[in-house]
Parts: sequence; structure tokens; C-alpha cells
Amino acid sequence: MNSGAQAAAMNFLNEVADEFPSAISFAAGRPTDRFFGRLNGAALLDAVARYERHARISCTQSKHGPNLLQYGRTAGIIGELVIEQLASDEGVHATPDRVIMTSGCQEALALCLPALCPDKRDVALTCNPTYIGFTCAAQAGGASVVALSNKVVSIADAIERAVRELRRIRRRPRALYLIPNFDNPTGRLLDERQRKDILDICRRERIVVLEDDAYGMFQYDGEPVASMSALDQSGCVIHLSTFSKTVAPAVRVGTLVLPESLFGDQDARKSLWKELVQRKSFITVNTSQITQAIVGGLLLQENRSLKEWIRPAVNWYRTNRDVMLDHLKRVFAPISTRTWWNRPAGGFFLVMKVPFRFDADSVTDCATKHGVVVMPMSFFAFDKSQDHRIRLAFTCVDPEQIRIGIEALGDFVASRMGKWGNCRQQATVV
Ligand SMILES: Cc1ncc(COP(=O)(O)O)c(C=O)c1O
Repeated sequence: MNSGAQAAAMNFLNEVADEFPSAISFAAGRPTDRFFGRLNGAALLDAVARYERHARISCTQSKHGPNLLQYGRTAGIIGELVIEQLASDEGVHATPDRVIMTSGCQEALALCLPALCPDKRDVALTCNPTYIGFTCAAQAGGASVVALSNKVVSIADAIERAVRELRRIRRRPRALYLIPNFDNPTGRLLDERQRKDILDICRRERIVVLEDDAYGMFQYDGEPVASMSALDQSGCVIHLSTFSKTVAPAVRVGTLVLPESLFGDQDARKSLWKELVQRKSFITVNTSQITQAIVGGLLLQENRSLKEWIRPAVNWYRTNRDVMLDHLKRVFAPISTRTWWNRPAGGFFLVMKVPFRFDADSVTDCATKHGVVVMPMSFFAFDKSQDHRIRLAFTCVDPEQIRIGIEALGDFVASRMGKWGNCRQQATVV
């Protein structure tokens, strides 16, 4: 996909729900609005006041605490609270001098990519498909992206191969963007062995891993896997997280944690931290102190862990995932050998393979004639390997919408396949 198409896809992602207002949307990777009521006006003010009291007592900023209406510290004001939350919820350990509060994970990407890939020969590696926000941030920051081959069995082997090939043409792989927990768009969870193998090759080749952990807290089955950051022993992982999915996207608060040393060099880490902070001061000056205070107040209320806070959402998403899987199985039974979908253990998305090319025109067709919006996986891909796949988000809908939406998707697929229409009706009537 070229850069113009990627930017268009990013806009499509953000605006698709507005474009087809009456359609059921499995497109956007948003958290449900269902629990936003807990953060009504009074609760938001309470959170801000709670944080202000805490800041005054702990005097981390000044004798009087921070004036939230002022410009603020570029690296942020709630780092110490967030460090406790990251340790408790994600096993990520940090010290305040390694943390930068960002305006969402998106800003963290925009800060890191030009810093890690300053030279024209530098390259950021990523999986294929990958999150469009990463590709767009790289493009905006002038960093080249190279997609790893998905023909190689493991990501570590694909990195090794990419390194070899890039060296041959005098390019330098500097960074690897990865979503190890419930990847967007694939839903994939990397196990500990895979993570260690990736860390091994990145250590050897001095490649910095940008670990995007937007979805790690949304696990529905199985045991959590240690974060790349927790497994990192050589100082090659920058951990990125966000409060967009756990609290609300509107707060625009995320966190960037640098390793203790960069490949064993503490001074290199310190100068990277300074460079990122300086870059941030040029771009956003600082992340809104008001919304940081909202997050900080919530962390204080929740005893520095969001596990309980997100439990209703986790239960809701798990139910939605299961309902979607059940309806996919029922609706697509007549063509089960020609379709396929995964069962993600967490996150917001599952991936489905259909027997034809699903492109932007298919999205419009499916939305206008059948009333359901889905995301073509080709939007996230660098080649044609994803052309027959779609991404289905199950977080922003309810079980009844999922039933209607999957049946509508079944009608669309049937209409594209001609005679399957008859088979499907027989199967769903039974
Ligand atoms: C993998 C991933 N990273 C980052 C983001 C953006 O996060 P933020 O809202 O914190 O900028 C998203 C949003 O959907 C995402 O899916």
C-alpha cells in the first residue's frame, strides 16, 4: 500500500462509523462507550481534585503542587503513579527518569521513530500486516519501513533474513515495531519463546524493539505472557502503553518507558530520553495536565491498578468475542472449508478469510446493501497477502448487533459467491 493509500486508510478507520451511520460496525478498534458513564462530569472533576490533593501532599512538582491550567512539564506529571500501575498490571518496571507521558501511544510512535531512524539508510521493521498508525507515524517522521516476510515461520527468523538482505543494500535496521499482545490487526499473542528469540536477535543486531502494548490488559483466556520489556536483559525494549482502551481515548494519555540502559549504555538511554523530551516539546509542548490529572486521580482511586476498573469491559468483550465466534460458525457452516477465522485470546479483533478479494469497494457494497461495515486486512498490509481477509472488531457492538451483523456479512459473502446463497438459507433455517 502506498503512503497516500495508507493515510486514506487511517482516515477511513477513524471516520468509517460516521460514513455509514445506520450500519453495524465491526470496523473501528474502539473501546465500548458502555462504561463511560462511570466518568461523568462529576467523576472527572473528582478525579482531578483527587490528583491535585495527592500532588500537593507529595510535592513532586512544587510546594503547591502543579497548576493544572498552566503549561506543564514536558515529560508529564503522573509518571510516578503510572510506574506503579505498569508494575502492578503489566509487570513492567521503570524509574521516573525513564518515563515520558505522551499524548497517546500515537505520539510515542511519532517521537521514537525519527529518533531511532535519523539517517536515510535507517529502517524500522514491522510485521505484515501491521497497525496503520505505526506506518503513518513512520511516514510523517521520515522513517523508512520494511515489512518482515510472513513466509518465514518465526518472526525472529524473518528479522534475521531482513537484516541480511538490508545489509546487502547498505540499509541499517534500527527499530522493530511489534504488538506482542493481541496484535492489531491479527489478534495474535506471541508466546514467551517467540519473545525471547526476537529479543535475542534484536540484541545481537542492536535493533530497538518498540513494544506497543495497547491491548495487553484485555486477555480473555489463558495465562498472561511476560512483556518484552520484562524479558529484556540487554536494554533493547521501549515499552509503549496507552489509557485509550482502559480509560477512554479522549484523555489522549499514553506512556513511553525506556530501558534502564540502551544496549548496556546508560548514557545512551539518558540522551535518548532527552532527545525524545525535546522533540515532544516541539510537537505538543506537554500532554494536557487536566487529562493526566484525570488518569492520575483514577489511578489513586483504583489503588494504582486498572484491573478492577476494566473488569466489566473485559467480561463484555469476552462475551462479544464468543458470540461472534458462535455466529460465524453457524452462518458460515455451508462454506466452512472456504472460510477461516481465528480465536484470539484477547484484544479487540479477530481475522476472517473469505473466498474472494475484499477491497474498499466491497466495504461500501457490504455497508450500503447489507448494513454491516468491516475492515479489509489489505489496509494493514504491504502486499497482496491479506487481500482475502477482513478484520472484525467485536468491542463496540452488543450481542444482538453481532448476530445481525454476522448474518448480514453472511448475506454479502453469499451474494458474492452466487450459488452459496441457497446453501446458506438451508443451513440457517435448520
Ligand atoms: C496497536 C495500537 N497502538 C496504538 C494505538 C493508538 O493509541 P492512542 O489512542 O493511545 O494513540 C492503537 C489504536 O487503535 C492501536 O491499535
